[in-house]
Amino acid sequence: MFLNGGPMIFTGKAHPDLATRICEYLECNLGRAEFFKFNNDNTFVKILDNVRQRDVFIVQPTTFPVNDNIMEMLIFIDAARRASAGRITAVIPYYSYARTDKKDQPRVPITGRLIADLIHTAGADRVVLVDLHAAQVQGFFSTVVDELTALPLLADYFLKKNLGEIVVVAPDIGSSRRSRDFAARVNAPLAIIEKRRLGNNDRVETLNVIGNVEGKYAILFDDEINTGSTMISAAKILAEHGSKGVYACATHGILPGDAAQKLTAVPNLNEIVITDTVPLEERKRHPKITVVPIAPLVGEAIRRIHEGQSVGALFT
Ligand code: R5P
Repeated sequence: MFLNGGPMIFTGKAHPDLATRICEYLECNLGRAEFFKFNNDNTFVKILDNVRQRDVFIVQPTTFPVNDNIMEMLIFIDAARRASAGRITAVIPYYSYARTDKKDQPRVPITGRLIADLIHTAGADRVVLVDLHAAQVQGFFSTVVDELTALPLLADYFLKKNLGEIVVVAPDIGSSRRSRDFAARVNAPLAIIEKRRLGNNDRVETLNVIGNVEGKYAILFDDEINTGSTMISAAKILAEHGSKGVYACATHGILPGDAAQKLTAVPNLNEIVITDTVPLEERKRHPKITVVPIAPLVGEAIRRIHEGQSVGALFT
C-alpha cells in the first residue's frame, strides 16, 4: 500500500463537532464533502477533495437517526473507494446495534454482525471503535479493528474528584469485568448488582447488591446509558443498601427522549459522567451531566494508525 500525505478526516452528519475537534487535535483541516437526500429520500455523498492514494478516516457514530447515519457512512465509504483512496478507516465512536449480538430467541437477527459485513462490503479497510457493548463484537468484522476505551479518561476524572471512600458498582453481571478494570484504576473495591431485563423493551428489575456499599460513594460503571432505566433502578437499590451517594459513569450517553431529565431528577444520583462519542443535544444538558471529551483519544489513535505506531500502547 502506498499512501500520500497526512491523514484526511471526513465526517457525515452524525457528529460533525466531534470530527472538528479530532481535526483540532491533529492540527489538520476537515475534508470537504457534501451529503444530502434527494426528494425520494435517497442519500447522496460527494467527496470534494482529491483522496487518491490518501489515508482516509470517516468519522460517523451510528447515533440518531441510526439507520440514516449507517447508510450515509456506507455510501461515504463507497464514494471514497471509488475515488481511489489508498486506505479507508471507518471511525465509529459509538457502534449501535452491538447489543443485537446473538440469536438468543427463535427467529431473531444478529444485526451487529450484519452492519459489520456491510461496512466491509462498502470498502472499509479498518474500523476504529470505542467501548463496544461486548469485546467479542470485534469478531463480527472482517476488517482490521482497533477498539479504544474511554476507561482511563473516565477513571482520571474520578481520581481528580477525590471523593474519599468509594466503591465501583457494576450495574449488571455483564458489566462486571469492565467495572473491575475501572475499580482497579481508581483503587476501589467492586460491588455487583444483579439485574434482570424484562422482555425486549427497556424495563429492568434490580434484584440484589453483591458487596458492601454502606457509607460509601458508589460509582456505577457501564458501557452506555440508554434510557437510564439501569442506572435509575441501580441508584434506588444502592440507597436502600446505605450508599452515601451515587455517580453514574459510562462511555456512551445515548439518552433518548426524556432520559436525561429522568436521570437528573433522581435525588441520590449526584452526577452523570459520559463522553461525547454521541452528540448531547442542548435540551439534554444539565449541571449534573458532565461530558469528558473523547476527541484527544480518537485523534491520537488516528495519528498512530497513520504513522504505523502502536494503538495498544495508549492503554498500558
Ligand atoms: C446493557 O446491558 C448495557 O450494558 C447497559 O446497561 C444498557 O444499555 C443500559 O440501558 P438503559 O439505560 O436503557 O437501561
